[in-house]
Amino acid sequence: MSKVEQYITSIPDFPKEGIIFRDITTVLGDADGFHLAVDEMTALLDGVEFDAIAGLESRGFLFGAPMAYNLHKAFIPIRKQGKLPRATSRMSYELEYGMETIEVHRDDIKPGMKIVVVDDLIATGGTLEAAVHLLEQLGAKVVKVVCLLELKGLHGRDRIKTCPAETVVAYEGK
Ligand code: PRP
Ligand code: MG
Repeated sequence: MSKVEQYITSIPDFPKEGIIFRDITTVLGDADGFHLAVDEMTALLDGVEFDAIAGLESRGFLFGAPMAYNLHKAFIPIRKQGKLPRATSRMSYELEYGMETIEVHRDDIKPGMKIVVVDDLIATGGTLEAAVHLLEQLGAKVVKVVCLLELKGLHGRDRIKTCPAETVVAYEGK
């Protein structure tokens, strides 16, 4: 397991009893931890040919933007509904309680464009599944999904079927 793990804080019983919340603010809050996380996520793109990184609001922005900057690639924000000013396409997905909708500017995505999707976490995989569908619906090819961590017990990566997904840290449970 990566040394990044030591910068992640595990908070028991948050937001409710029985859940262990994996807090990445302590990664960001340590200069070495932040560098290590971005560098190790960036290394997962060695040899991957792509045009842009799409990051998921909000925690995906924290890692996706510095990765894109480092690799001199464009950064495309995928935002929660109602935030983007130009024409958008959207995709809804189910949360534990209710629905969430994400959007991307339609003219950010050119047919055939190769995109890497970045977020902080694969939990149920619902967010990433929706993001991949949204981009593919617009004619992009999602070549890889990169996240800082995953909760293996939730099998979220099984929902990402059309491209490889890699994470720096994996927790066995939920
Ligand atoms: C969290 C996390 C991932 C997503 C993972 O985002 O940052 O994006 O949930 O869960 P899933 O795999 O079950 O979909 P959240 O929607 O809480 O918002 P935030 O990034 O703005 O904090
Ligand atoms: Mg998120």
